Amino acid sequence: MTTDSPFLALLKNRIHLRQVPFSERGSRLMVFRNGDHLALRLAERWFKREGQLSGYRRRPPLVDEWRFADGEGRPLDFELTTYPHRVDYATPVGTFSLAFVDAETLLVALPPGKCGITFRANLDRAQTDRRGGVLFFISDTPPNHIYTTNARLLENHVEPVDEANQRVQLVFETGGGAALLLNITPRLGFNRWVPDSQTALEAAAQRWHAWFAAAPPVAEAYRAQYYYAWWIMRAGLISTRFYTTREAMTPSKMHYVGVWQWDAYFHALAYRHVEMKLAKDQVRIVLDHQREDGMIPDAVHDEGTVTRLTFPVEADVTKPPLVAWAAWKLYETDGDREFLDEIYEPIVRWNNWWFEKNDVDGNGLCEYQHPFSSGLDDSPLWDDGLPVEAPDLNTYLCLQQESLAKIAAAIGEREDAERWASRAEVMAKRMLEKMWDAEAGVFWAARPLADGRAPVRVRTPFNLFPLVTGRMPPEVAARLAAHLTDERQFWTRYPVPTVARDDPKYDPQTMWRGPTWVNVNYLLVEGLQRAGYPELARELRRRTLEMMLREDDIYEYYHPETGESPPKAASIFGWSSALFIELALEESRLG
Ligand code: GLC
Repeated sequence: MTTDSPFLALLKNRIHLRQVPFSERGSRLMVFRNGDHLALRLAERWFKREGQLSGYRRRPPLVDEWRFADGEGRPLDFELTTYPHRVDYATPVGTFSLAFVDAETLLVALPPGKCGITFRANLDRAQTDRRGGVLFFISDTPPNHIYTTNARLLENHVEPVDEANQRVQLVFETGGGAALLLNITPRLGFNRWVPDSQTALEAAAQRWHAWFAAAPPVAEAYRAQYYYAWWIMRAGLISTRFYTTREAMTPSKMHYVGVWQWDAYFHALAYRHVEMKLAKDQVRIVLDHQREDGMIPDAVHDEGTVTRLTFPVEADVTKPPLVAWAAWKLYETDGDREFLDEIYEPIVRWNNWWFEKNDVDGNGLCEYQHPFSSGLDDSPLWDDGLPVEAPDLNTYLCLQQESLAKIAAAIGEREDAERWASRAEVMAKRMLEKMWDAEAGVFWAARPLADGRAPVRVRTPFNLFPLVTGRMPPEVAARLAAHLTDERQFWTRYPVPTVARDDPKYDPQTMWRGPTWVNVNYLLVEGLQRAGYPELARELRRRTLEMMLREDDIYEYYHPETGESPPKAASIFGWSSALFIELALEESRLG
C-alpha cells in the first residue's frame, strides 16, 4: 500500500519526528525522535494537576529513552523511514514498524527471531503479567499505559528508577508477524487484543490514503506541500473528552493543545472540502460553550474554557467574530440549510454581546477590552492600553452582519435579513465617519477617552482592514491599496508584515509585531477581490503560497523579508495549513 499510494509515497520522511510528530486523527499520542531514542508525549493539558494552562509544553515525555534492542537487551543502531501511517525503524536484527491501531493504541510490529525493547515511563506504579503489564499513576488522574504482546516474552522486567519513573525491559521471541501493543488511555477499558500486524499496518495505510484521496486535486507546483497540509489537518485532530465536546483540530498538537475560537473557523474552511461534519463540528464546539450572555470563549480545552484572564489586563477574553462569515462558506459548499438554522440564534446572541457589552463610548463601533480577544495578542496596537476601538474588529462585525443577512434570508427570516443588511451598511459608513483619516489615508484604531478619542498611531495592515468589507468608496479603496503595495511599508518580498516595515515598532521576528500571518493575508486576498483589485489579490495569493513553499514544515508565522520561520513560530500550524489549502485551490482554479 505504501508504494501503491502516491500520497503516502509523496510524504515519505516529511514527518521527521523532531518538530513534527508521528500521530493519528483523534490521538493524544505523539512519537518523537530525540537523538538516539524515541519518546512519546501526550497532547493533553492537565490543568488541575499542573496548575498551569501551558504546563504540558514543559512536562517530561510519558515514555522516554525508548530503544529497540537485540535478544540480549543491547540497544541497536537504527535508521528511520516515516510515512503518515507508519514509522519503520530498521536495525541489524530486522525492522520494527510503528502504526496506530486506534487513537489510543500504537502497534509495534516485531521482526522475527529474538529482539527487545526498553523504555522509561513517567508513571509511578507497574504490574506485570503473562502478556505484558500495566503502568499507572497511583495517586492521581490517568493515563494508564498498558503494554501487551502476542510474542513469547523471554524477559518482562519493570523496576522503579525513582519515585516517578519506571524502567521497562522486554525481550521477545517470535516466529514473525507478532507485535507489541501500547495502549495509553485515561479509561479503564484496556485494549489488550493484539491484531495481526500486517492487517493493522494495511488498515493504517488505507485510512490515510482515503483522507488524501478525498481532497480536491491541486496544481502540480503546490502538490507536495498541499498534501503535507492535509496531513497536518488530519494528524492535528484530537478526540472528544469533557469540554472537548466534538472531535476538534488543535492549532498545533505540540504547541497549542485545545481549540481556539477563530482558529476553529479557519480550520473549518479546509475540512469543508473533505468532510462536512468535521467542518461543522469546528463551529459547534465553540458554540457549545457560549455563555448565557452570548459571549463565546477565547479557547476550549479538555478541563474547561478560557473566558476571562487577569493578564496583561483583567477582562473577559474572546476572539474575533468571524463565525457567521465562516458558516456561510460552509453553506456555499453543501447547501445545508438545517445547519444555518441550527446556528443562527447563537450567532445573533453573540453579535448582540459585542454591541451590548463592548461599545464603551456608545458610538456604534466596538472595542476590544482584552488584547487576546483580537487574536493579535502582542500587537503594538495595544501598547497604550485597552479598550481599543479597532478597524479590524469593526470590519469583522460588518462581515458578520452581512453574513447574518444572508443566513437569515436562507432560513426564511426576511425581516431579519433586511435589518442585518442595513446594519452591515451602517457599520461601513460609521468606520468612514469615525476612523478614516483622509490625510493619512488610513483607518486609525483609537482609545475612547472621557473627552474624545486618542488615536493609536502605530501603522499595521489592520488600519487597512475596512477594505475587506468591499464597501469602501473607490477613492478610499485606492488609498488603502496604495499603502498595501508600498514597498517601504507593507509590500515586502513576502507580504503582509503585521506592522509596517518603516514603523519604529516593526520587529519581524516577534509574533504580531511584524511577521507575516497567513490568515491576515487570506482576509486581504478576499478583500482585494471584493474591492475590485483581482490582480493584486492574485499577486498576494501567489506570494503567500511561494513563501509557504520555501520551508518543509508549515508555521504559525513567517519573516516578511526572508520568508523564514522565526524561532518561536509554532510548527505543524493549523490555520496556516488550512489556508494554504484554500489559497492553493483558488490559485489552481485560476491557473
Ligand atoms: C496565539 C495567537 C492567536 C491564536 C492562538 C492559537 O495566541 O495570537 O490568534 O488564536 O495563538 O493559535
